[in-house]
Amino acid sequence: MGFLTRWIRERLPIDGDQLREWTNEPVPNHLKRWWFCLGGTPAYLFAVQIATGILLAFYYEPAPATAYESVRYITETATYGWYLRSLHKWAATMMIAAVILHQMRVYFTGAYRKPREINWMVGMCLLICTLLTGFTGYSLVYEQLSYWGATVGANITDTVPIIGGFMKRMLLAGDGYNERTLSRFFILHGAVLPATMILLLLIHITILRLQGVSELKFANERGDRPQHFSFFPDHFYTEVTIGLVLMILLSALATVLPATMGPKADPLSTPEVIKPEWFFYVTFRWLKLFSGTVAVLSTGLIVFTMFLWPFIDGWIRRKTRASEASVWIGIVAVITIIGMTVWEAIVAH
Ligand code: HEM
Repeated sequence: MGFLTRWIRERLPIDGDQLREWTNEPVPNHLKRWWFCLGGTPAYLFAVQIATGILLAFYYEPAPATAYESVRYITETATYGWYLRSLHKWAATMMIAAVILHQMRVYFTGAYRKPREINWMVGMCLLICTLLTGFTGYSLVYEQLSYWGATVGANITDTVPIIGGFMKRMLLAGDGYNERTLSRFFILHGAVLPATMILLLLIHITILRLQGVSELKFANERGDRPQHFSFFPDHFYTEVTIGLVLMILLSALATVLPATMGPKADPLSTPEVIKPEWFFYVTFRWLKLFSGTVAVLSTGLIVFTMFLWPFIDGWIRRKTRASEASVWIGIVAVITIIGMTVWEAIVAH
């Protein structure tokens, strides 16, 4: 063992004490609660997505003539294919839910305020990439709903003023859904978006390490200053435990409610009801409430406001006495989002 350590040390001059110092960063006590360390959950689920996604990609064939049959082969014939596909589907759902919950935690604890504005904006980019990865993944199966979902998505993109037509052509690899569309979705879903997210995550975590997690003090904590515990091994073991519990949950869901196959896409027959995945219900309902360009522009304005929220909130706090206005705005936003999601879920059109 001593020989091995010496051999490695001679080739990789890493100082053990320095390594301990890097990994032993003290983290505030509130990270012992899952709600406050929720950022680790989408990170873990993202790793599950990459691992299962690579295995699925060995069999998936991104062309209208082959995509549906290749997914059927994964689901019905390939060894453990049904399990990997179901894990990938459930982990996607949970990752999106975890990102939203993490963002809510950051929002309601005011952890986006100075000096963390940049990390909030990096987080917004992560949110958008996560949603786009979900959208492109949904479109890959070439089922009726995924085909028409992609077509409706592209038509909505088309209504964006000036650049809409260009964006639609970039997305579909042509003026309409064609032979090359699925391979474009596949490259976006399996390469461009995950690579962008890895880069964004590196920036997110680096900024987090440079600034440290925001310090929150709870009424039941003793002393004037927030208490801390070490990242390694304490927090690391907490994250490993969360990961194991999530894996059991994902496996249970994959077994009890495995991913199924809907009817194959038929470009000549529009289904009576076209629905996106649940995480786009709110946007879909919004788009139905207003007409094309107005709906798209207002959606863009909302996303833009979310991006700049730390600065808008800072301005509100400086100009008014309503220092906690953000909490009330947040509560109204959450109720609206849940309300519109449920609305879209229960009505047929
Ligand atoms: C793939 C998505 C994401 C991952 C994996 C991720 C990961 C993390 C992790 C591990 C932390 C450490 C504290 C914690 O666990 O809560 C964190 C903090 C933070 N995240 Fe994220 N995050 C993601 C998305 C987002 C989004 C969507 C936002 C907001 C728009 C955001 C904004 C922040 C901010 C401002 C902090 C600092 C919070 C503080 O210091 O208390 N993140 N993130």
